[in-house]
Amino acid sequence: MLYCDDGSATLFHPDYRENYHNLTGAWVESTEIYGKVWNDFFPEIPVDFCVADVGLGLGYNFLLALSLLDKKSLKNSSIVSFEQELIPLDNLKKIPYPGEVAGYQDTLFSLCQNLEEQNFINQKVNSTNITIYLGDLRQKLKLLPDRSVFLWLWDPFSPAKNPEMWSLDLFRLVLQKSSTQAVLVTYSAAAQIRAALLRSKWHPITRPGIGKKKEITVALHPQRPLPTSSQKISLDEIEPQDRVTFRDRKLRDTREIILSRRLQTRARIRRILHP
Ligand SMILES: C[S@@+](CC[C@H](N)C(=O)[O-])C[C@H]1O[C@@H](n2cnc3c(N)ncnc32)[C@H](O)[C@@H]1O
Repeated sequence: MLYCDDGSATLFHPDYRENYHNLTGAWVESTEIYGKVWNDFFPEIPVDFCVADVGLGLGYNFLLALSLLDKKSLKNSSIVSFEQELIPLDNLKKIPYPGEVAGYQDTLFSLCQNLEEQNFINQKVNSTNITIYLGDLRQKLKLLPDRSVFLWLWDPFSPAKNPEMWSLDLFRLVLQKSSTQAVLVTYSAAAQIRAALLRSKWHPITRPGIGKKKEITVALHPQRPLPTSSQKISLDEIEPQDRVTFRDRKLRDTREIILSRRLQTRARIRRILHP
């Protein structure tokens, strides 16, 4: 277990070779990046509100979502969470969650215990309906009804390590599963991720980041009006080589294939631009 500057904890994933969170703070990341959009974009929670937690990981974003919905005691709200590989349950017990969500630690533990046996759970926690899918999100996402998700907390590992979660093709499917009011928030401000969002018809905008991260990205459903203070990022602002996005048409290619396909396309474009 690694301890962050804000007193929260994170882990290192040996296969992705990446920490689950920035060492500035797992909890700071959760509240500042993923928490602020709630108030800014959903000051009133719509009926049948559904938030998708992409990458359950250590559960910070999930617990934040649960506590926010719980405070409002809304009857028909739901959280749908996706995780490919649960963290060891022993570690889950040791995470020093902050006061606001510490009371839910046992709930998360028992949800994960059930998940280990069933790969899928669907149950109520107080008034919130919880669904968690264990497996590759690219396949599990197809199970959601179209136009059902209002808020996506998009928090996989980085594009370089986890490219299958950042392809143009996946963002297209995500849009199909989104309500016309939908908002997707992610820590990534990478030009190629913004290009993938644009090309899949999302409207990305820039938002201030935290710590060393100057910017993050929020993307809006094309039918949702932009906030008055924001301007949609345009493809013209993005360098031609960064407009080359990860492609994964069948949503089942390996990381290696997705990465090398993009590298080859970029090399081809470079040769055309600089013969
Ligand atoms: C940065 S961590 C998420 C941290 C988490 N949101 C939190 O609040 O603690 C990224 C998570 O995405 C998961 N992930 C990566 N690829 C995935 C996939 N294809 N399907 C589902 N989950 C995936 C990883 O297993 C990892 O737990």
